[in-house]
Amino acid sequence: VEAFTASVHFDARLYREDIAGSRAHARMLARQGIISQAECDAITAGLDAIEAEIEAGTFQFRPELEDVHMNIEAALVERIGDAGKKLHTARSRNDQVALDLRLYLRRRCDEIAGHLLDLQRALVRQAEANLGRIMPGYTHLQRAQPVLISHHLLAYVEMFERDRGRITDCRRRLNQSPLGAAALAGTGLPIDRHAVAAELGFDGVTANSMDSVADRDFALEFLASCAIIQVHLSRLAEELVLWASTEFGFIELADAYCTGSSIMPQKKNPDIPELIRGKSGRVIGNLVSLLTTVKGLPLTYNRDLQEDKEPVFDSADTVAASLAITAELLDHLRFNHKRIEAAVTAGFMTATDLADYLVGKGIPFREAHGVVGRAVAHCLERGCDLADLSLAELQRFSPVIEEDVFAVLTPAGSANSRISTGGTGLEAVREALAATRQRLDACTR
Ligand code: ARG
Repeated sequence: VEAFTASVHFDARLYREDIAGSRAHARMLARQGIISQAECDAITAGLDAIEAEIEAGTFQFRPELEDVHMNIEAALVERIGDAGKKLHTARSRNDQVALDLRLYLRRRCDEIAGHLLDLQRALVRQAEANLGRIMPGYTHLQRAQPVLISHHLLAYVEMFERDRGRITDCRRRLNQSPLGAAALAGTGLPIDRHAVAAELGFDGVTANSMDSVADRDFALEFLASCAIIQVHLSRLAEELVLWASTEFGFIELADAYCTGSSIMPQKKNPDIPELIRGKSGRVIGNLVSLLTTVKGLPLTYNRDLQEDKEPVFDSADTVAASLAITAELLDHLRFNHKRIEAAVTAGFMTATDLADYLVGKGIPFREAHGVVGRAVAHCLERGCDLADLSLAELQRFSPVIEEDVFAVLTPAGSANSRISTGGTGLEAVREALAATRQRLDACTR
């Protein structure tokens, strides 16, 4: 039973939060006259010493003491005697563990928000370095319309901006102290929940003692935010894998971030993006795991809730590491502009521009669509691109076509004509980039 129920092998990671919570709780008990100042001093000194031991790696966690909370409390009693036994006054492990997890997640939210910011900055650096460069934009993984590389990269900056918003929002909502809910019903002792909350940097206290010990929404929100982040990273990783392939040849990843094959000497494998993509499985799984754990639980605390920690720790670690290494990867990749330019001039990606051009000359769009379709079919037969046709040849498809058509048939002409807000035109992207840079510069890491 001990072996089956013990959690200290994973929840030891909460020691810092557990000790911080206990210190604040003891000080409040003393201020309220529930324990003496001398007892409080002994408790806080004892906790300091225990924390130092844990940090030095000399503290012996004992699985028979179940969890981190009992281990620390037992060590305190061993160290300072009877005063240690008073620490748990007006407190239960149910509100204690909820407190610890909230404090822990608050720290990890801040850490992940910082990593997100670093990654956004790395994307912006690449977007700035490649400003003006054109690449194929895809739908259905078919070449669709020419876009700026910077525009493509800024799409990810937007995704990570929403992620940063979500994780910041999660932090704000979880920053309420549950301590004082005790086992589930509150306590008859004259505690001051607000003072403890303020000392621990919370914005307030939770409103309902039963909800306080039964609720894991904050962990679910954290896991959901992590899952969305990892899915975004996975989409970026997938593009990097594709772009690094011989078929695309759009980018070269730095050697330091690739591995070779043990049998094929020519191989340079994009293991890091592959692993990031692969790890989305566990991060999505962690969310589903905790949702499933919580879904059938009657109020209030049930031991099932001990299963909340491993998914939370794993998602926090996986997402933090994936974000950090993706930023590095981006700083060390090179775009192969020769290959990208070759790709962007093939595939009739300016067909829509030709249709728009005809519309500009008064042809109804549906008709223009047909005209361009016939021109493309002709090019396919001849094995050339729209821009390779002479003016006379183009005029065979529509007499309204004039010399100025060639400005829209080039990839740059096409991309840069899309100056609508949020579009890929150079001017629109320059503005978006400047606004993004300003927004990110204003953030403190
Ligand atoms: N180890 C437990 C957990 O992680 C702590 C709370 C235990 N409470 C209890 N009444 N057994 O949830």
